[in-house]
Amino acid sequence: MMTPPPSPLAIMPNPITPAPVELAKCYRLLNHGPTTLVTSAHNGVRNVMAAAWAMPLDFDPPKVLVVVDSRTLTRELIEGSGVFALNIPTRAIAETTLTVGTLSGRDVDKFDALGLVTMPARTIDVPLVAGCAGWLECRVIPEPHNEKRYDLFIAEVTAAWANPALFSNGRWHFTDAGSKTLHYLAGGAFFETGEAFTVEVKQL
Ligand SMILES: Cc1cc2nc3c(=O)[nH]c(=O)nc-3n(C[C@H](O)[C@H](O)[C@H](O)COP(=O)(O)O)c2cc1C
Repeated sequence: MMTPPPSPLAIMPNPITPAPVELAKCYRLLNHGPTTLVTSAHNGVRNVMAAAWAMPLDFDPPKVLVVVDSRTLTRELIEGSGVFALNIPTRAIAETTLTVGTLSGRDVDKFDALGLVTMPARTIDVPLVAGCAGWLECRVIPEPHNEKRYDLFIAEVTAAWANPALFSNGRWHFTDAGSKTLHYLAGGAFFETGEAFTVEVKQL
């Protein structure tokens, strides 16, 4: 007799209770350049895509930027709602990250198809992906020229959260390989975040 495939929910790490991240320090969630998942929602449609081109832009009030291709469903939903969330996935969900970055929500509900567990955001009406390491809730600062010409969206961060086991006191401290954040190369190839080390400024 064939063994049934595991439920998609079974591959998601246990949901944790996210801890708030001080807004002035939320840039540290993105400072090391992790690949993100952009979640969006508008008029009853929700979606998730991968975005490697996301980064901090300012400290206080905190701002981020993300490049969202004009052909994506995500782009349409962000333009409709003016909000999105950046979710920071870990190696444990790298396959999910690649898949949501390959399929379009125009063809399939990626949340349902992948069994993604979601959590409500606090300041925006957009789902957050459970099992991620960090989350930034973002409100677009309209810059039509950048958006049209470069697919570049600038947004203010209105709330930020992290898995307290992985990020606390403004620092990442990854516990095991599965918990490390991702850096995208191309063609399904990633690096995971490497070993942390500290140096002193040279005395000149
Ligand atoms: C790891 C990874 C990173 C990606 N980074 C970006 C990005 O920064 N910006 C972008 O527009 N598309 C990026 N993509 C492609 C989108 O995720 C892809 O076009 C997606 O299918 C769009 O989904 P949607 O139509 O449901 O919004 C990336 C894909 C992968 C796999």
